[in-house]
Amino acid sequence: QRDMFQDIFAGRVSKERGAIELKEIDALFDGGKPKFDRIAIVACGTSLHAAMVGRYVIESLTKIPVAVDYASEFRYRDPILDSRTLIVPISQSGETADTLAAEKLAKERGCTVMAICNVLGSSITRAADTTIYTYAGPEIGVASTKAFTAQLVALVLFALDISRRTGSLGAEQIKSMVEEMLKLPRFVADVLEQSDHIKDIAEMIAGAENVLFIGRRHNFPVALEGALKLKEISYVHSEGFAAGELKHGPIALIDSGVPVVAIIPKDESYEKMLSNVEEVKARGAFTIAIASEGDEAINFTVNEVIRIPAASEFIIPILASIPLQLIAYFAADHKGTDVDQPRNLAKSVTVE
Ligand code: G6P
Repeated sequence: QRDMFQDIFAGRVSKERGAIELKEIDALFDGGKPKFDRIAIVACGTSLHAAMVGRYVIESLTKIPVAVDYASEFRYRDPILDSRTLIVPISQSGETADTLAAEKLAKERGCTVMAICNVLGSSITRAADTTIYTYAGPEIGVASTKAFTAQLVALVLFALDISRRTGSLGAEQIKSMVEEMLKLPRFVADVLEQSDHIKDIAEMIAGAENVLFIGRRHNFPVALEGALKLKEISYVHSEGFAAGELKHGPIALIDSGVPVVAIIPKDESYEKMLSNVEEVKARGAFTIAIASEGDEAINFTVNEVIRIPAASEFIIPILASIPLQLIAYFAADHKGTDVDQPRNLAKSVTVE
């Protein structure tokens, strides 16, 4: 993953000027005016989780409303679509049947389509008006990993370039965000250095019956993705929750020793996340924090800590995803399940 960023940034981000320009989206604008009033993202599986993170990033940077749908549900709920809706199918393979069907429905209703996709010339890109390619390289394992983080990067670049064109962010703000994006290879290397520690933690939870993942805001979908990764390849039952929803049901699952992985960076949700962690700890949970470097106080609250670099909130989901992918990988490897080819799953689901 550390090495894919230069391909994603190539021709889009200028290191020297800290500038960004995605030529792929030129046709979606009339000068500084977008030709759309709202964005509707459709995707399946891991790509759907990227879409959910994208909603937070795009809305907060551009102030353009974003809806996210499971592609498998989209065409069955008679969605409200018009020529001012930009449809964004997100797909690693570009061949997922439900995502393609959602895209086709949107085209019939007169929407413009901008795909985010990893595979050049795939069906979803051929049906789209334009595509932001994720350039993550071929992904071999069934469970999506680097394609997911590449989708997150593509969504941030998309949001930043809309902001530049519409003026929703100032030039200086964009420059500093671009400069932070350019640090991603180093940030990711910092996370990967903890692989041995993450392996130890994964082995501690590999035998659990249930594992819970919690997060708030941008990191709520990251919690969903962490749980999906773990269940996909290790077959450990795992669920992700918005931490604020714990008290509405999931907390009933907490018993002595139940592992809870909390994504708790130092951001504006920190105090609320901390009280959620304390709630589950008081009920006996084995707590694992994905926490910011420099947050020493967290050591006194949780059982185990995995560090991610202190970074802006739009970058944190990219960094927080990597230890979760490693937890799933090491747990599966420890159990001896097939990490690349899990049972009952296909890399690309081309039937409904
Ligand atoms: C399958 C794969 C998942 C993937 C999903 C969507 O279920 O096993 O890893 O997230 O399809 O695939 P796509 O290619 O559209 O991103």
